[in-house]
Amino acid sequence: MMTSESDAAADLREKETLSDLSSAEEKSIVLVGLMGAGKSSVGRRLATALNLPFKDADTEIEIASNLSVPEFFEKHGEAAFRDGERKVIARLLSGPQHVLATGGGAYMDPQTRSLIAKQGRSVWLKADLDTLHKRCMKRNTRPLLRTGDPKKILHDLMETRYPVYAEADVTVESSDGPHEAVVDLIIHALKDFNGENSA
Ligand code: S3P
Repeated sequence: MMTSESDAAADLREKETLSDLSSAEEKSIVLVGLMGAGKSSVGRRLATALNLPFKDADTEIEIASNLSVPEFFEKHGEAAFRDGERKVIARLLSGPQHVLATGGGAYMDPQTRSLIAKQGRSVWLKADLDTLHKRCMKRNTRPLLRTGDPKKILHDLMETRYPVYAEADVTVESSDGPHEAVVDLIIHALKDFNGENSA
């Protein structure tokens, strides 16, 4: 089937959008948000769409320490985890451009936040409590949710963290629909943000 002129123009615009984003000052795209917001699953698909490498800060900590996140919390405690997290994110952001999924607490650290503001483009994946809770209940791998009623813990974390996540460059609703739809929303939100900030 022949592609109409307008389809071809739309294709070209889409390609330009993607290459704009993957070259925009070579800044990495950093996904922030609560546990269950979809940072890793959406991040992986976003990286594919932008033809960029994907990194997951939790996975990098696990590789560096040879411990799973729950094992790390148990053996060394949360403060040591936060130190490791800060260092890993600083190392990743000083490297080549990529899409980075951070752990839910990473953006709460002022040093990490200011590094991300300088060296990255931050995207807050925002979701409602029921969505977060439903997703988190699929795996029991989050030490913070093992200390009490997971829904109440998520609710309390929303209260303290949402005002801080709101400092991210762009906010995208991470609904219960297909991850690809969230990827599209991120790409368009970043393009708008880059347009507004390139003058
Ligand atoms: C945490 C979130 C987790 C992980 C650790 C602490 C948090 O990452 O870093 O369990 O403080 O919210 P995900 O957000 O990827 O689940």
